[in-house]
Amino acid sequence: MNNGIVVLLSNNESAMNYKSNTYRYRQDSTFIYFYGLSLPGLTAVMDLETGTDMLFGDDYTIDDIIWMGEQPSVAELAARCGVEKVCPTADLQQFIQKAQNAGKTIHFLPPYRDDNRLFLSHLTGISVSEINAKASVELIKSIVNLRSIKSAEEVQEMDKICNTGVKMHTAVMQLCHIGTTERRLAGSAEGIALSEGNGVSFPVILSQNGQTLHNHDHSQILQDGRLLLADMGAEAISCYNSDYTRTFPVSGKFTQKQKEIYEIVLKANMETIEKAKPGIPYFDVHLHAVTVLAEGLTALGLMKGEPQQAAKVGAVALFMPHGLGHHIGLDVHDMEDYGEDYVGYDQTIHRSTIFGHASLRCGKVLQPGFIVSDEPGIYFIPQLIDIWEKEKKFAEFINYEKVRQYLDFGGIRIEDDLLITGTGCRVLGEPLPKTVNEIEAIVGTK
Ligand code: GLY
Ligand code: MN
Repeated sequence: MNNGIVVLLSNNESAMNYKSNTYRYRQDSTFIYFYGLSLPGLTAVMDLETGTDMLFGDDYTIDDIIWMGEQPSVAELAARCGVEKVCPTADLQQFIQKAQNAGKTIHFLPPYRDDNRLFLSHLTGISVSEINAKASVELIKSIVNLRSIKSAEEVQEMDKICNTGVKMHTAVMQLCHIGTTERRLAGSAEGIALSEGNGVSFPVILSQNGQTLHNHDHSQILQDGRLLLADMGAEAISCYNSDYTRTFPVSGKFTQKQKEIYEIVLKANMETIEKAKPGIPYFDVHLHAVTVLAEGLTALGLMKGEPQQAAKVGAVALFMPHGLGHHIGLDVHDMEDYGEDYVGYDQTIHRSTIFGHASLRCGKVLQPGFIVSDEPGIYFIPQLIDIWEKEKKFAEFINYEKVRQYLDFGGIRIEDDLLITGTGCRVLGEPLPKTVNEIEAIVGTK
């Protein structure tokens, strides 16, 4: 990119229930990536033609400092990140309009917060309803190319915050006992995330009803015979994120039926680690993982027919209606605000339209420096089973009579974060119990 002006907005504070009671502040990830400043009220401008960088913002006044303490000036912030020019926010609209009148392209990213949508509309004169559609595809693609390849410093941050994720999961496994509440476990994990970083990387998913893919309900008491699914990670002070899932028996001992399904998911997770390497489309790895699930489910009599074909046509989506993984970095679904297809697909690999495969967030050819999640699962979702059975959907591949024996099973997902290296991949962070033996040895030990 070498023409026009790039305008990047910081995130503002967001009110929880009244203006001065705000949610935990989270800077926009693109703003962090380029400027490293986790503060609201800033707009950065890059003039691609002159090479000038500018920071627009307003210094805090004594009325703010009384409540907030001493604050750096905008000039000090600019100096910290090598920006040479500083201007008050009041000058921004005129600056943008002058550039527009001079025929310069204004490149901006699609805003995901309404206040920034309104602000961009005010700055550019583009109507609020058109702002997202007018975002710069050229800018999006350029930044995706940069952010997809993690530097050594970024990998170091990711490894560190993965270790916090490992501690969260280890604690939850150890504290898991029949009669304990899901809330206690979720809270213990969140405390670890807060004590080592900014907090959780997304609201904790922890439930015995693991068949609901993103279950944030922690209202149940842990019961003998149930499986507990925990999908959680932490965010570092630098804002890099981790994302792990483990599923384990509340009692500390898998039943035979649970173990059989668990081993299938584990095989899909482990074979993904073997297959993920530069030059391979992640869609192919996803398809391989789904085929492993089909083979295992066929061996158990839950599916029938040719497993490879069942995987390809989407029959396995009854059991795994999501994709194998997504990019991870400054966002737990990295860069998803730009539009998933710009991040996970390109001219060579297009998103499938088949239910299940269509939910794969990253299908691209893998490159060294990518960090992606590896998260296969098998779920028994009674509502989905009912619909498919009534429609006799994929009846040539699914043994509905047998599937009905699993309606109260729940769900299993196993997730690790993989760094694509020059020759293969590496699981980030310290090892986290994953095999049946490792899980049974740790659950309930504290
Ligand atoms: N761990 C949550 C997700 O990947 O969507
Ligand atoms: Mn994930």
